[in-house]
Amino acid sequence: MTGRGTSDHGKDVSAGGPARHIPVMLNEVLLALQPGRGSAIVDGTFGAGGYTSAILETGANVLAIDRDPAAITEGQALAGQYPDQLKLVCGRFSEMETITRENGVSPVDGVVLDIGVSSMQLDQAERGFSFMKDGPLDMRMEQEGPSAADVVNHARQSDLTRIIGILGEERQASRISGAIARRRRSEPFSRTLDLAAVVEAVLGRKAGDRIHPATRTFQALRIFVNRELEELTHALHGAERLLAAGGRLVVVTFHSLEDRIVKRFFADRSKQAAVSRHLPQAAERAKTFTLEKRGVMTATEVEIEQNPRSRSAKLRYGIRTESRARDEDLSIFGLPNLVKLDDLDMRGAVS
Ligand SMILES: C[S@@+](CC[C@H](N)C(=O)[O-])C[C@H]1O[C@@H](n2cnc3c(N)ncnc32)[C@H](O)[C@@H]1O
Repeated sequence: MTGRGTSDHGKDVSAGGPARHIPVMLNEVLLALQPGRGSAIVDGTFGAGGYTSAILETGANVLAIDRDPAAITEGQALAGQYPDQLKLVCGRFSEMETITRENGVSPVDGVVLDIGVSSMQLDQAERGFSFMKDGPLDMRMEQEGPSAADVVNHARQSDLTRIIGILGEERQASRISGAIARRRRSEPFSRTLDLAAVVEAVLGRKAGDRIHPATRTFQALRIFVNRELEELTHALHGAERLLAAGGRLVVVTFHSLEDRIVKRFFADRSKQAAVSRHLPQAAERAKTFTLEKRGVMTATEVEIEQNPRSRSAKLRYGIRTESRARDEDLSIFGLPNLVKLDDLDMRGAVS
């Protein structure tokens, strides 16, 4: 990340106080989503409400979801300003169909997802997302379930290697998991800076390195602890079922694994699948999305200069056709085969 007024995470700290979350690719999101007076939009990742605020200003109604209870609490002020237009719900975007149904909002004209963490989550040391600030090794967006410390202290070394290697795209994963396994035998991990220091001791750090050596390990643990890839695949299918014909699905990602999932989904859904005319399900293989823009959209140079976090952002969107939603098919994503969070043995460290 560049220097001037930004941290390693690229959030705005120029005012010296806590970071505010700057919405990424907001203009492009609005162009792709096309919200307008009376339309029904689901913002599956409310965060600091950056997208939601801009969508509300167009006169659209928004059902905003976030799995982080702190984001929902912070959002109450905005909900108070738009009592007739905004509903704010604490939940997972993978459950958007149930949430919209329970709130009487279905079908919908647009779904937007901005995948990842918010600056508020990164900024608060006690949430444990940051390798820059000392805090408990937590990283749970929902503030419940197994934490990053549980994973680091209890996952088998071979599973840690795969988690860090695949979800962090870290080439030195086996050296890092080896160092973690050696260290936790004498003292389990409980603090972020402690883990960051162990990773840094393995990888070293050269003056002028653009990113901290622990970046990829922390990213991997965050994605694993929050089951982020599974959440995304279920949300894409949910949005397909929820959107009305002509409705728009807009997804912003910051990580190549997540972008690949979105890309594969739209590639699959925008193709008429070649099925035998003898099979009765032929009608179900009709394309469910059309793509106005086949490729990926990225932030402008101006935005990247103002908000370095936008450098890795990728936006893809599709427009729902009238065809029936297809059955869920996770095979199209080529998801990595990793140990499941629920299968970790929490009773003791295993190496
Ligand atoms: C990058 S921020 C969104 C920022 C927002 N677009 C804005 O402009 O302020 C991502 C948010 O999504 C939330 N989130 C991540 N995964 C989620 C999931 N599976 N379900 C619901 N919310 C999720 C996080 O808690 C975080 O607040």
